[in-house]
Amino acid sequence: MIKLAPSILSADFSKLGEQIKILENSKADFIHIDVMDGNFVPNISFGFPIIKSIRKYTKKTFDVHLMIENPSRYIEEFVKCGADIITIHYETDKHIDRTINYIKSFGIKAAVALNPGTPVMCIKDILGLVDMVLIMTVNPGYGGQKFIDYSLDKIREVKELSKNMNKDILIEADGGIGAGNIKNVVEAGANVVVAGSAVFKDNAIEENINLLKGSIN
Ligand code: DX5
Ligand code: ZN
Repeated sequence: MIKLAPSILSADFSKLGEQIKILENSKADFIHIDVMDGNFVPNISFGFPIIKSIRKYTKKTFDVHLMIENPSRYIEEFVKCGADIITIHYETDKHIDRTINYIKSFGIKAAVALNPGTPVMCIKDILGLVDMVLIMTVNPGYGGQKFIDYSLDKIREVKELSKNMNKDILIEADGGIGAGNIKNVVEAGANVVVAGSAVFKDNAIEENINLLKGSIN
């Protein structure tokens, strides 16, 4: 079963609680939470208080995507806010092995993300450690960007590597994915698909989720 992870970066923050309740009662699998520091990426999104306050509205898996420099400083705090999966970017941490193990020491899932320009081979040696690999299919920082086609090859590469290692891994694709290209992403090997604008557009969250899930499962 392919998982869908709506990104709340595209939510209407003036009614975030209501929109989280809609996600809770929908076929969405994860709730994808994009944290941006205005340093690793040009944009600033939101942090601990928002995550903590929406935790009480849903039991869905909190898939926290950290687009922040030196993420190890904040792991414990994100765990306290209710993260179930924490993803750190390969590009943001000099000691990726240590931080992945640190995340796992809290009993939650750990994942590594790669920017479009970062080769898959960079994470070959830590593939055995992580629960999930996130392949960015846009340059991180904003919702609503255009899908980068060559990232499909990177998804295939992660799939191939994990197959060779005999390792069951989650492969998440993030950015520029909607009804028109979700199938391609899944065919390439992604089993978790993030969608922000494609879920929240036209204030038709449930219908959009049904459309996206219907085309992959
Ligand atoms: C981009 C974020 C994505 C973003 C996806 O930096 O990591 O999760 O919210 O939004 P869409 O689906 O609109 O590209
Ligand atoms: Zn994301």
